[in-house]
Amino acid sequence: MKVLAIESTCDETAVAVVESFGHGVKVLSSVVASSTEMHAKYGGIIPEIAAREQVRSIIPAITEALKGTDLESVEAIAVSFGPGLMGSLLIGVETAKILSWVYQKPLLKVNHVSAHLMANWIKDNSDSFVPVLPAIGLIASGGHTDFVYMRSLTDWEWVGGTRDDAAGEAFDKTARFFDLPYPGGPEIDKVSSSVSDEEYLKLEKKVRLPRPLIYEPTLDMSFSGLKAAVSRIDSSISNKEVYIRDFSEAVTEVFVQKTKLAMEKFSAKSVLLAGGVAANKKIREAMRKVVEENGLKFFVPEIKYCGDNAAMIGASAVLYPIQAELSETADPGMGVMLK
Ligand code: KG4
Ligand code: ZN
Repeated sequence: MKVLAIESTCDETAVAVVESFGHGVKVLSSVVASSTEMHAKYGGIIPEIAAREQVRSIIPAITEALKGTDLESVEAIAVSFGPGLMGSLLIGVETAKILSWVYQKPLLKVNHVSAHLMANWIKDNSDSFVPVLPAIGLIASGGHTDFVYMRSLTDWEWVGGTRDDAAGEAFDKTARFFDLPYPGGPEIDKVSSSVSDEEYLKLEKKVRLPRPLIYEPTLDMSFSGLKAAVSRIDSSISNKEVYIRDFSEAVTEVFVQKTKLAMEKFSAKSVLLAGGVAANKKIREAMRKVVEENGLKFFVPEIKYCGDNAAMIGASAVLYPIQAELSETADPGMGVMLK
């Protein structure tokens, strides 16, 4: 099946054409237009600006993604219905509805959060493997941090997650505290990688940041206390890079410990990581290590498919198609599960 997929939940306007490829999905084109730079000067996303940029970018992004593909050859139009910002979502959803109606193609409804995990089924060549199920999935983005247990492609269960802020939110606010540009995740990643182990180990345990709920025997997580602890660091300290590394160590340790617990609790063959935060070098390495030490397979999308993109929306629609009516509309408060 070949689909045209649209993603407009937040500040990225993304369009892709994907098709089934063995047990996975192949990307024929993937365009991502972002208004991040416009938000950088405010240190966060301004919903009204994001929505206006969606309006400006949607047609050019569709045109670009369709270069080389005849819209008639596409079997369905897929779009994220939520969760996300209403103003942004409406642009993608209403555009998809119009295309569906004009070209008489089914409209497929995709959940943005679960689609992040589906990016693990994108394969660029026929030799690459797709995840073996059942699997444990950890989705870590700017708005969500959730564990799911996937018995099959269509049977998912939410099994735990953050009680408050998402991990990505903590990355962004920590970066802002240390005067690093928005979005903070990639900046913190860079700074932490520049701090050697030797330098980091000099940071006394008693002044290190908390690892919230790390040993609590549930898959609950919490990042608002960690964010608050960062805001109490004396901003005149001379070794701020070491604290920035400590912040990423804290998130990494929580993810690793909770993943260990998830592997004990659920019988799984693979662990899948996804979402913007999955682009983090330390987190990718540490997660791979703990999963492989436990004899399970580890999957994480290529960096370009970790952050918001439409290829993952297409992957989700191909692997788990859910048809929507033209009378349905965007759902900003949609849960994290597919339906
Ligand atoms: O999945 P995503 O692109 O959008 C949402 O659905 O929220 O995730 C965005 C989040 C932001 O908080 C951003 O700072 C974070 O992902 N992020 C990272 C990295 N790259 C992006 N966090 C840690 N390390 C990174 N390298
Ligand atoms: Zn996302």
